[in-house]
Amino acid sequence: MVKNIQAIRGMHDILPDQSGLWRFLEGRVIGVLDQYGYGEIRTPILEMTELFRRSIGEVTDIVEKEMYTFEDRNGDSLTLRPEGTAGCVRAGIENGLFHNQVQRVWYRGPMFRHERPQKGRYRQFYQIGAEAFGLDGPDIDLEIILLTHRFWRELGLGGLELEVNTLGTVGERADYREQLVAYLSVHRGQLDEESLRRLESNPLRILDSKNPRMREVIDGAPSLMEHLGGESRTHFDLLCAGLDAAGVSYRVNPRLVRGLDYYARTVFEWVTGRLGAQGTVCAGGRYDGLVEQLGGRSTPAVGFAMGIERLISLLAEDGRVPEEGVPHAYLVLMGDEPQRRGQLLAERFRDGLPELRLVTHCGGGSFKSQFKKADRSGARFALVLGEDELARGVVGVKPLRAGGEQREIRFEAVVDYLRTLVGQ
Ligand code: HAM
Repeated sequence: MVKNIQAIRGMHDILPDQSGLWRFLEGRVIGVLDQYGYGEIRTPILEMTELFRRSIGEVTDIVEKEMYTFEDRNGDSLTLRPEGTAGCVRAGIENGLFHNQVQRVWYRGPMFRHERPQKGRYRQFYQIGAEAFGLDGPDIDLEIILLTHRFWRELGLGGLELEVNTLGTVGERADYREQLVAYLSVHRGQLDEESLRRLESNPLRILDSKNPRMREVIDGAPSLMEHLGGESRTHFDLLCAGLDAAGVSYRVNPRLVRGLDYYARTVFEWVTGRLGAQGTVCAGGRYDGLVEQLGGRSTPAVGFAMGIERLISLLAEDGRVPEEGVPHAYLVLMGDEPQRRGQLLAERFRDGLPELRLVTHCGGGSFKSQFKKADRSGARFALVLGEDELARGVVGVKPLRAGGEQREIRFEAVVDYLRTLVGQ
């Protein structure tokens, strides 16, 4: 027996019965991005490994243990992108997008991280993200958060909570880091193994630890908020005031530090309690130093990305059944002549009503089996063409979802009749 080849662990097929929900989500989200004037950018899925090392940070989980990195045939080290921001920055520098210009861009696509797969955490997952370059004020931070807030309204998703924090400037963070390391060193005995390792390399991440044994030592740690300079403080206060004025509720979470190194000042996450451990559906923040760090001119920037699978889970849990991709009608063809003529008739209907989603039955079979297929397709109506209908120049129209009688419509009138049904 030949062994079946299976998909790689943590990587999933999105089948037609799920993709309607994906299309609904993407359609709504892209609609909002259009509303705010963001333009789409498509960057390669593969980048030089160096790009991610230099942007995400050497001592992050992603770079240390999660990247899909390999040598290509030329001996170059390449990596499947674990996120989209680094590629946007690389593309912006390379194409001169940042020279005294404001750029608002969005992207979507698969990202790759070799994490331990579980519900809501995959090795190939999809993000939609956006980045705004060239603006350093809190107004653009506010815009980015308002935009994400609007997504949830457009998608009809409730129960998401916004957490915000500020990480200060690179300098402020360095001062704070020293104090934090001093404090944590005194309490070394209370740190778990992972945190002891992070103490030298990335102590701020210790604040993010989910280990309940460390709660006490983390709660007693000095706060970064108290080490902020006046400008960072004002920036954060203005953002919070903007959120208040817009009526967006949020919680300041001083322990929110994010898993990528490029952030400075504003960071935020949208979280839900409905997805277990993987509750962050959207996350982002400001990363003013990154463009310069990657060789471009100093350019302030802020953005976010959201995990599509996690949002899809929420929509599916809510029992949402979108229209996207579901046929309106299924054409049942009984007898030899109707089978021969059916495709051409369907072409006429499609010509007359381009928005019609019509499945034409192929392959013959009994009336009963064709109706079963019509029903399974999700179509709202069956159109029936038998020898008798053909002879009289009519099709039968039978509602499949709601009740109602079958009725007959003349060929010439079918398009107009379907138009009223499709519009409903
Ligand atoms: P991130 O927090 O690493 O940020 O990822 C953003 C979102 O992607 C997460 O909140 C989560 O919803 C989703 N996500 C991450 N990893 C996985 C996974 N293994 N499986 C499923 N979903 C996942 C970034 O990627 C930044 N580039 C965001 C950003 C853009 N910051 C500024 N601009």
